[in-house]
Amino acid sequence: MRQHVNPLSKVFNNVEPLPPLKDIFNDYNKPLHLDIGCGSGSFLINLANHNKNWNYIGLEIREKLVNKSKSKLKDESIDNLFFAFGNAEYLIEDCIGKFPANKVSSVSFNFPDPWFKKKHHKRRIIRPQLIHKISQLMANGGYISIKSDVEELFEYMDMTIIGSNLFSTHIYQDSEIFNSYNPMHFKTNRENYVIRNKLTVFERLYKKNLK
Ligand SMILES: C[S@@+](CC[C@H](N)C(=O)[O-])C[C@H]1O[C@@H](n2cnc3c(N)ncnc32)[C@H](O)[C@@H]1O
Repeated sequence: MRQHVNPLSKVFNNVEPLPPLKDIFNDYNKPLHLDIGCGSGSFLINLANHNKNWNYIGLEIREKLVNKSKSKLKDESIDNLFFAFGNAEYLIEDCIGKFPANKVSSVSFNFPDPWFKKKHHKRRIIRPQLIHKISQLMANGGYISIKSDVEELFEYMDMTIIGSNLFSTHIYQDSEIFNSYNPMHFKTNRENYVIRNKLTVFERLYKKNLK
């Protein structure tokens, strides 16, 4: 049984800052994708193995999963993937001013924890302040992708992203898919589960507005 952790717990107030990009990637000039709440890491390992022209960072609040992902990495010769432990919002805040300007090309939120009860909505990962911080790291024209099997959460995330006035909904053109962080449409563990169980995947893509 999977345990949820409360991202607002004081335990997560401090994060270990990410090392400079030049220390974690073989070539830090490649486009950079962030996957928020990356779970056990297999999705990103697949992506990093098949898209050597991109760098990937996975952010995950459950330390055991991060350690598991890191140990999987040891068995692979991958120099374009890094896993970071902590509350993604604080990790991203720490990257502002540390990453080169406009460095992040895209960000994915795949099947975030739903936190169904209204009193727990504040624990949901997509919040206005996070969207604002992401836009500070991102180039104009950068993308956010969201997926969920919970329609109410999907609508909440959609409203938060559109409500920021920083991003607009977008449909990839064919050439954009080819150049995207996931041209082969790899799926996360949760997405595979959802498909196996014939549940609906709600998904949307957003493009950062020109300033
Ligand atoms: C339902 S799982 C989905 C995992 C994976 N993305 C997938 O699609 O299979 C949500 C993940 O987000 C992580 N998470 C929740 N809140 C987070 C936060 N504030 N910062 C980083 N990770 C978080 C959880 O620990 C969990 O691994």
